[in-house]
Amino acid sequence: MARILITSAIPYINGVKHLGNLVGSQLPADLHARYMRGRSHEVLFLCATDEHGTPAELAAARAGRPVADYCREMHATQAKLSDGFRLSFDHFGRSSSPQNHRLTQHFAGRLAEAGLIREVVEKQIYSATDGRFLPDRYVEGTCPDCGYEKARGDQCENCTKQLDPTDLINPRSAASGATDLEMRETRHLYLRQSALRDRLDAWIATKTDWPVLTTSIARKWLHDGDGLRDRGITRDLDWGVPVKRGKEDWPGMEGKVFYVWFDAPIEYIACAAEWAEAGGRPDADWQRWWRTDMGAEDVRYVQFMGKDNVPFHTLGFPATIMGAGEPWKMVDYIKSFNYLNYDGGQFSTSQGRGVFMDQALEILPADYWRWWLLSHAPENADSEFTWENFQAGVNKDLADVLGNFVSRVTKFCRAKFGEAVPAGGEYGPAETALIRALAARIRAYEAHMDAIEVRKSAAELRAIWGLGNEYLQEAAPWAAFRDDPDRAAVIVRLALNLIRVYAVLSRPFIPDASDAMLAAMKTDDRGWPDDVAGALTALAPGHGFGVPGPLFAKVSDEARESWQEKFAGTRG
Ligand code: 2FM
Ligand code: ZN
Repeated sequence: MARILITSAIPYINGVKHLGNLVGSQLPADLHARYMRGRSHEVLFLCATDEHGTPAELAAARAGRPVADYCREMHATQAKLSDGFRLSFDHFGRSSSPQNHRLTQHFAGRLAEAGLIREVVEKQIYSATDGRFLPDRYVEGTCPDCGYEKARGDQCENCTKQLDPTDLINPRSAASGATDLEMRETRHLYLRQSALRDRLDAWIATKTDWPVLTTSIARKWLHDGDGLRDRGITRDLDWGVPVKRGKEDWPGMEGKVFYVWFDAPIEYIACAAEWAEAGGRPDADWQRWWRTDMGAEDVRYVQFMGKDNVPFHTLGFPATIMGAGEPWKMVDYIKSFNYLNYDGGQFSTSQGRGVFMDQALEILPADYWRWWLLSHAPENADSEFTWENFQAGVNKDLADVLGNFVSRVTKFCRAKFGEAVPAGGEYGPAETALIRALAARIRAYEAHMDAIEVRKSAAELRAIWGLGNEYLQEAAPWAAFRDDPDRAAVIVRLALNLIRVYAVLSRPFIPDASDAMLAAMKTDDRGWPDDVAGALTALAPGHGFGVPGPLFAKVSDEARESWQEKFAGTRG
């Protein structure tokens, strides 16, 4: 049994996330966590809200709420939606936690002792109208690279280029729209990432098994020199982790906070500490996941994120950990994703374009979304959500293939043999052939799931569901029943057992349907089908079952059209 630490990129607090955000980190991370638990590994799966920085302050200001209240409320909202999507976090923390404050200040102190922090007096954009400096997203303007007019001061949403507010053309204040901006002097801390460049380069070079998307972005940043410019890690903001050197004040840094991208990844560690505290566990319980001197050397640590987050996780956060010179666990595998587009354009939070998590759950249960999103995950390229494609995926895979199989088998058995697994005799050649085909596909499914190849896993699972229907079609128990009821009973016995196996295999993708299948089979046996022949005898003759309600309803053309129309505009 292995121990697997899994983190999803922590979503910004500034509002409900859209389906593109969901499929780029939290959902595939949940898939992996559920699968690894299903294979009996010990898993710690963590996520949190990313509550600092300009996104939080600006959103709170827009909502007319004090930022601390806004964050508390939005954390509760996001936690509820995570539950709605059945994201099985062991803890959903907050980057504003006391644990993260302490750890962030601790890391800064260690980096300073190691000589990796320098103080810089620089000129930054100041708005007289707003009476404040305008870091990061407080400035908007035109992207110097792609010409997108709503680029933010930290990154262009259109071309993903990381920016400095001073890079923007025609800059304006995001708070007030003011354009009377001037440059004023301010003092900040810089992390000397450049001093760690060779170590980072050597470390990335060992990651030969990582997805090309991850390593190509990391290498680009290393070798362009761009990402390894020394980075400012403090900001002139009110809300955030106050700048301290460990527990000590930092002269000259009064009233400043750490940059959100400095404290956000540290929350991955702090979140484990929050998890321990919430469960009344001793510190050693979280340290065994995070400290290689306290047991974490055996842990496999996997991170999930969208491609825009890759530089911060391949270089920024590793630089913090390496520079601190303490035995913290480093990431073992980074799974990154391209973007999911929406109906011919981009999903966009700032423009309210696309389907957001709350809206999605208002129209259909989580499993429908989980299945479609995961089976179309933007792994090797960007992918696109269209309502036609969504309707087709749900109706074919979930309703016609899986749902129909479960319904046909249970109803036929109830009608002919009653609500218990029938006996009838031994499995014959048709069953042996099915078991062989199934075993091959299940082993392939495991290989794809182990490799976190999300689409390939979904395709294999779909094929596994298909085998059941093909078997039923060929074995035709309804025909067999007329001449040889025992033969029909054997077929049905196998098919009922197959429903339990489907529940176990499908659980990482569609946990609610999995629950419904297990409940219908009146079993809690979630044993993984390592031995397929054995797994297909788990429900013995005489074991009771029930006919479940329809697992999946089809999406009608009318429903599809009405949603298409409803979501055509932007969110109000
Ligand atoms: O892109 C985002 O949504 C960021 N809030 C992700 C942060 S991940 C991390 F470093 F914690
Ligand atoms: Zn751009």
